[in-house]
Amino acid sequence: MDKKIKWAILSTGRIAHEFTQCLQKHEDSILYAVASRTLRKAEEFKNMYGFEKAYGSYEELVEDPDIDIIYIGTPTTMHYENAKLCLSHKQNVLCEKAVTVNRAQFQVLCDMAKENDVFFMEAMWLPLHPTYIKAKQWIEVGRIGEVQLLKAEHCFEHPYDPTDRGFSKALGAGTILDLGVYCFAFANEMFGSAPDKVNMIGRLGPDGADIDTQVQMLYPTGYAIFTMGYVANTTSNTVIAGPKGKIQYEEIYTGAKHVYLYNEKMEIVETYTEDKDWAGLDYEIESVNECLRKGLKTHPVITWEHTHEMFDIIEVCKEQMGVDYEEYEAL
Ligand SMILES: NC(=O)c1ccc[n+]([C@@H]2O[C@H](COP(=O)([O-])OP(=O)(O)OC[C@H]3O[C@@H](n4cnc5c(N)ncnc54)[C@H](OP(=O)(O)O)[C@@H]3O)[C@@H](O)[C@H]2O)c1
Repeated sequence: MDKKIKWAILSTGRIAHEFTQCLQKHEDSILYAVASRTLRKAEEFKNMYGFEKAYGSYEELVEDPDIDIIYIGTPTTMHYENAKLCLSHKQNVLCEKAVTVNRAQFQVLCDMAKENDVFFMEAMWLPLHPTYIKAKQWIEVGRIGEVQLLKAEHCFEHPYDPTDRGFSKALGAGTILDLGVYCFAFANEMFGSAPDKVNMIGRLGPDGADIDTQVQMLYPTGYAIFTMGYVANTTSNTVIAGPKGKIQYEEIYTGAKHVYLYNEKMEIVETYTEDKDWAGLDYEIESVNECLRKGLKTHPVITWEHTHEMFDIIEVCKEQMGVDYEEYEAL
């Protein structure tokens, strides 16, 4: 049996629950510790899933020398401070997306991880999903020719609630940081480069967060268009097209089970189905455990370079939309 990885969860919110439920499926993972800002919540979470330890503050958690890796599942605006705390205590870190609210903060965290010789990664599960990898392989072997168009929708209706992390800028709200990160990484990967030009339009919510946007990105061989928002429901239909055919997904952002390859006559010529009953987070857990066993300090697919390229797009979009996270932008 491979060395088991001792996981600690920092926060007890929605994604912390989802992540822990996935961790339970991985026999090479130990549910070791959980921390909350409130001890009662940490104890409840510990008892619900059978963790060994519960801490009533993030500061106490990072002092524990027996942790192999800390998963940060706090609101996006908190990631920078939380990750700095973990990295400065020489803890390995998997931090939820968006990893920070700006590029400069991400750079500081990369420098800290390097200095402390620890693993650091943004929790971006999408590029690790088998149907995503299959599409990339089809493109690489020329099944659709050069990518000319990538088009996707990532919209769902969400009733307005000023305290919700979807709408509250203090919690890191907005399509750019919440949904855009997936789209930008996806487009860069499928076109195989960073875009030459980025153009975002959209609307801001009452709190000044970008709640409804469309972005066009021009690449050397074509362009990508993403519609993102919390205002109307759409399917997450995604198409990647070239002169020889197209690749189509349904619901890619929740982990598409199927991906279809069409020829130039628009006939399906191949379908790939992922049979495992896994969520996107499962592929992330599997590969992070592997990275730690190998002693890697960065993930070979979700590289810091890729995250930096994504921040180049994020910064342009934030500027075009006039979105600024004010005190949370500080270093
Ligand atoms: N990868 C994915 O598929 C995915 C899906 C959903 C969300 N996310 C990301 O996960 C992060 C958290 O999202 P979520 O939906 O889980 O949020 P959430 O339900 O609001 O939970 C956030 C948790 O963070 C802690 N926290 C620390 N400081 C806080 C503050 N000032 N205000 C509120 N909570 C604070 C709280 O835990 P304690 O009280 O226990 O300390 C809280 O329960 C976001 O960055 C989001 O983008 C990722």
